[in-house]
Amino acid sequence: MSNEQHPLEVVLTPEQIQARVGELGRQISHEMGKDIILLGVLKGAFVFLGDLARAMNVPVRMDFVRLASYGADSVSCGTITMTKEPELDLKGQRVLVVEDIVDTGRTVRWLLDRLAGMGAAEVKVCSFIDKPERRELALDIDYVGFRVPQGFLVGYGLDYNECYRHLPGVYEVKLDRQRG
Ligand code: PRP
Repeated sequence: MSNEQHPLEVVLTPEQIQARVGELGRQISHEMGKDIILLGVLKGAFVFLGDLARAMNVPVRMDFVRLASYGADSVSCGTITMTKEPELDLKGQRVLVVEDIVDTGRTVRWLLDRLAGMGAAEVKVCSFIDKPERRELALDIDYVGFRVPQGFLVGYGLDYNECYRHLPGVYEVKLDRQRG
């Protein structure tokens, strides 16, 4: 389990990723300005958030949440709970939710509702990868790194059985059982 080996097909090279993250960092800096809080959704977003923060040219603060979902089919049929709350006070703050991937949209939708309840003044969403074909809920994602229609993706924070998060590129892992 700790040393998964599957055939991997390149979807995004490290160079493509770094170029796009650099663009996003400059765009978000320009459009949202300083004094925002980057709120990463653990675990997957930690790699993207680290690169995005360093690509921004305004000071930002950073925090993380961790969500857990229970149910037959992971998030899509389950109940979501927050197992790690933000440590910064978000009341009155401008927050950028940083995700590695938006799939059905249920995780982000749930988190946006929670953040509104915490009194955030403005909340925007930035996802490294968007899979719009899998969306189950109407959702506006303000900043998207890449739109990828299909495939079980790993690398750059994305995992399969907790493996492959460390890879600097994104790959489609060829499985017998496909998730998307
Ligand atoms: C992934 C991803 C999002 C969520 C997206 O997290 O990081 O949080 O699923 O799915 P949705 O749009 O269908 O709700 P995952 O549960 O795999 O946890 P991880 O980040 O710890 O890998």
